[in-house]
Amino acid sequence: MSLSSQPDPAKLAAARAAVALVEDGMKLGLGTGSTASVMVRELAARAAAEGLKLRCAATSQATADLAESLGLKVEPLDQIGWLDLTIDGADEVDPDLHLIKGGGGAHLREKIVAAASDRMVVIADPGKVVDRLGAFPLPVEVLQFGFETTRTLIRRALQTLDLGGHDVMQRLKGSDPWVTDEGNVILDLHLAAIPDVVGLARALSAIPGVVEHGLFLSMCDLAIIGKSDGTVVELDGDEGIDADLLAGEGD
Ligand code: A5P
Repeated sequence: MSLSSQPDPAKLAAARAAVALVEDGMKLGLGTGSTASVMVRELAARAAAEGLKLRCAATSQATADLAESLGLKVEPLDQIGWLDLTIDGADEVDPDLHLIKGGGGAHLREKIVAAASDRMVVIADPGKVVDRLGAFPLPVEVLQFGFETTRTLIRRALQTLDLGGHDVMQRLKGSDPWVTDEGNVILDLHLAAIPDVVGLARALSAIPGVVEHGLFLSMCDLAIIGKSDGTVVELDGDEGIDADLLAGEGD
């Protein structure tokens, strides 16, 4: 939300289009971040206006708190079971709908919730659309135990993928380590570009201290990109991405 507490028009447009996909009785996954927060507000308003009965699983404590404060029913994921639809933001979206997520440090729960959903819809503004992932630092959630060992193993893995020499920075909150909802810490991989997303995802997942990385490959079914004029562009991964969107705004 901006200082005037008016949501960004592009985020609002994407959020509204995604909330329009919600049907009465659905079991929903609620994402995390500024775009997802706009969606939660829109969802709560629609649910109240139309008397929709929804069951929601949240991808972070922050989202759970927001959703509950707005009257949405939030339950533990395991209590709900399988979800019909998850709506979440992203830090980068590529033409195949592969994503980088975790800028808000919630990608572990986000991935678990998305994996438990029939459908994952991503909402974003045009600035998130890229032709290749990697300009946004890739978040990797790691255990605190053996943290430096895990960082060394990540650096070695990057070297074997010709990505050596890039910064692998611990995320901080002020001068303290950033700690996730699950009590882990985050390394941000400043790679500039990731030529082989599948290879990198596989290499990171093979490192014992890595809990989860922020590459979401083949998980997103639809990306709704909101524009500042209030319109949206829907990407389903089958068609290329318009050059205007790649430039950051489709107007
Ligand atoms: C949270 O951990 C992230 O995956 C967010 O979904 C992502 O950072 C997008 O956030 P914004 O909507 O705030 O850009």
